[in-house]
Amino acid sequence: MCDLSQQAHQHFGYIVDTAEVRSLIAETERLSREISDTRVRLERLRPAFASLLAADGWLPEEYAGPDEKSGMGGGIGQYALYRAEDGSLCLFSLVIPPGKRTPVHDHLAWGLVGLYRGRQYETVYRRLDNGRDEGRASLTIERQQNIERGEFYTLLPPDGDIHYVETVSEAPSISIHLLANDTACVWRHQFDPVAGTVSPFRSGYSNAQCPEDSLS
Ligand SMILES: [Fe+2]
Repeated sequence: MCDLSQQAHQHFGYIVDTAEVRSLIAETERLSREISDTRVRLERLRPAFASLLAADGWLPEEYAGPDEKSGMGGGIGQYALYRAEDGSLCLFSLVIPPGKRTPVHDHLAWGLVGLYRGRQYETVYRRLDNGRDEGRASLTIERQQNIERGEFYTLLPPDGDIHYVETVSEAPSISIHLLANDTACVWRHQFDPVAGTVSPFRSGYSNAQCPEDSLS
């Protein structure tokens, strides 16, 4: 009983339960069972992910707007749409108001990220140091690119895993993220490329809680 209410409170499973979301998650689960090579699996996932980005009407308004109490700052909303209970997969929307940007951050999982509404500008970094000094990170810009509606990119750590994105459209941008962890609840890293520092970072979801045990 206690467990059930805890689970409901944490919003696992299909938080947005539509045919479009179910179809992408089912395809991801099928390919994860059948293909052990992550690079190949991500390639095979592209059509299903493109279909979700192209579809209208499946993302509720409440998960398509900014969040003034954002854990990421800048009014950025991060809304869980699907979360596997074992932390192996999640789908979320990220809403960034015009002119705002995320911190420089990593993801620590493979996945696909694509633009659903608006336009973003992405800056990707490459790490030059070996990571042995816990509080230090030396980053160099690897590439910068506009991301238009319907376009998406691959995360395959360490490739492309450290970046920030900013909204360059007049309306908020909405990106859709399919990642092989419970991204907003995992302790990740936030970087200051100018100071050369790195610190622990956990964004949290705007609409769901993280398991108690990942708080420490
Ligand atoms: Fe990101």
